Amino acid sequence: MAGRLLTAIRCDDKKFSDLRGTDMTASIKRFLFLKSVILFVISSASLAAPFDEGNTKNGNVLHGENCSSCHDSMFPNGKGDDIYDEDLRKIKSSKALYSMVEFCATNNGLGWFEEEYTDVSKYLNQTFYKFGK
Ligand code: HEC
Repeated sequence: MAGRLLTAIRCDDKKFSDLRGTDMTASIKRFLFLKSVILFVISSASLAAPFDEGNTKNGNVLHGENCSSCHDSMFPNGKGDDIYDEDLRKIKSSKALYSMVEFCATNNGLGWFEEEYTDVSKYLNQTFYKFGK
């Protein structure tokens, strides 16, 4: 490519400008595109922890007030949080976790907004599930 470019400059200016208009801008564009893809992959890998915008503390409070007692009643030892244990859990992804939080909250008539689902999902993920994405 560099060789071709030099020859083009030496031989005739018109050829050089043609080259700039086609091959070069195309490869620069390709380079910039690749660069942005790479940057995007790097930034999403480091930033996109699930439920990033959630509030764990609030999730903990909401969970304690609205969710624990029913789960507690399901276990002979009264420890409802056992439902989130690795050997008992059915939820296998952060997406499924969010859906289950939504499902349980809706079924119990809590009338929560997205914010509350996210807070509780974040609390459960940080405390028990630990899904990385
Ligand atoms: C009236 C009882 C009841 C209440 C209240 C309740 N749940 Fe549940 N929850 C269940 C039952 C029963 C299951 C098990 C369902 C199954 O295994 O199919 C469950 C399962 C779950 C699971 C899946 C656990 C796993 O990984 O297998 C999550 C997450 C969950 N509940 C979240 C919540 C949240 C958050 C709240 C409060 C908003 C809540 N639940 C309130 C009864 C309840």
